[in-house]
Amino acid sequence: MAGFLGGAYLWVKAFHIIFVIFWMAGLFLLPRYLVHHQEALGTPEAAAWEKREALLRRMILTPSIGIVWLLGLVLAANLGLFEGGAGLGWLHAKLLIVFLLSGYHGWAVGYSKKLAKGQGAIAPRTLRLVGEVPALAVILIVILAVVKPF
Ligand code: HEM
Repeated sequence: MAGFLGGAYLWVKAFHIIFVIFWMAGLFLLPRYLVHHQEALGTPEAAAWEKREALLRRMILTPSIGIVWLLGLVLAANLGLFEGGAGLGWLHAKLLIVFLLSGYHGWAVGYSKKLAKGQGAIAPRTLRLVGEVPALAVILIVILAVVKPF
């Protein structure tokens, strides 16, 4: 494999995918927690959800989003993204979706903190639907990364 990573490229890619799996596990779980947390507002159960969400953030979500971005950008640099390498349309599209997904992550963390203050105003059905966003993003991102249609 050409590029500054040489033979280490596949190792970096393997760890990129490992931390993608951790990040996605957290992003599938947090919106479920938010639904239960919102339902529990005003009951003693709410504090337990607050604790679970804080733990999920600290142990899974925050470290894995950082590592996925770091390793992903190293892979992208190796492919020549920052030198305007040709044939990387798939990577630009992937970056756009990952950027939006990172915004979703920020929103979900923000809503979790809002619920911790006892405030929560999203209709339960909407909150459940919003929880499907990461699944949709994963489908698009993996197709772009593996099939590289453009
Ligand atoms: C955070 C920003 C990210 C950047 C900058 C990034 C960048 C990259 C790059 C440059 C590659 C190497 C592609 C190749 O060797 O052909 C790669 C591989 C891959 N990425 Fe990402 N990625 C990011 C996030 C994600 C996310 C969120 C997912 C899934 C939800 C993902 C899934 C994959 C997969 C499955 C591969 C392996 C593709 C293959 O070798 O066939 N990446 N990524």
